[in-house]
Amino acid sequence: MRLILLGPPGAGKGTQAQRLVKLYDIPQLSTGDMLRAAVQEGTEVGRRAKAVMDAGELVSDDIVNQIVSDRLDQADCQNGFILDGYPRTLAQADCVEEMLAEKEMPLDAVVELRVDDDALIDRVSGRFTCASCGAVYHDTQKPPQTEGVCDVCGSTEFKRRADDNAETMRTRLRAYYKETAPLVGYYHAKGLLRPVDGMGEIDEVTAAVQSVLDD
Ligand code: AP5
Ligand code: ZN
Repeated sequence: MRLILLGPPGAGKGTQAQRLVKLYDIPQLSTGDMLRAAVQEGTEVGRRAKAVMDAGELVSDDIVNQIVSDRLDQADCQNGFILDGYPRTLAQADCVEEMLAEKEMPLDAVVELRVDDDALIDRVSGRFTCASCGAVYHDTQKPPQTEGVCDVCGSTEFKRRADDNAETMRTRLRAYYKETAPLVGYYHAKGLLRPVDGMGEIDEVTAAVQSVLDD
């Protein structure tokens, strides 16, 4: 299964991707996670991306196209993958189309998670992740089962993202509507778009995603 998860910041792309990894046994390729790892490691890419990400703007197409292309060549992508947060400009969409044609990896579907702006702001404001395994939590919507302990790996260390604040979120939403929302029409025209209501409970959204994929 080769998938793109499309949707605004906080829509639940990462949350659903972590579930689809288990359901379909394919890796999650999150450009946000890859860029944050580069920032933490202090690589050249990380140094170039940090200020842009902290401001909530989009990192340049060249940087993200290259990291995705390199990642797709790794062995674990041969049976499929979930692109999470990529592509998010029309130029990236054209680039990934060419890339996947060259690598003979045609896309099966583009799942669009639809969520209201108010809910998005609430979701990112309450988000935190396990510092060890990356599992995604929320202060009220999805706290760990035992307070302070990760459900998945048992770690007691969690972190919050520098860009998860109200001001940066406004910039991220603007970037989404200006640069990324046009991809909805782009993939609809190609017959690949599978819109899913992302407003329900996490489990309900997973079931809805599975149902459009298994159709
Ligand atoms: P990135 O890391 O991709 O962030 P994003 O797109 O803003 O998406 P988020 O990770 O914020 O949200 P999500 O949809 O994954 O939601 P989640 O599952 O965590 O990008 C960050 C930055 O990197 C960008 O701003 C840009 O600078 C750069 N970048 C990355 N990719 C790029 C690209 N391709 N081109 C250029 N620049 C790029 O859920 C959010 C919260 O809600 C969680 O707390 C979760 O528990 C909760 N939640 C999830 N689902 C539900 C539900 N159904 N009900 C209630 N709560 C829920
Ligand atoms: Zn964990």
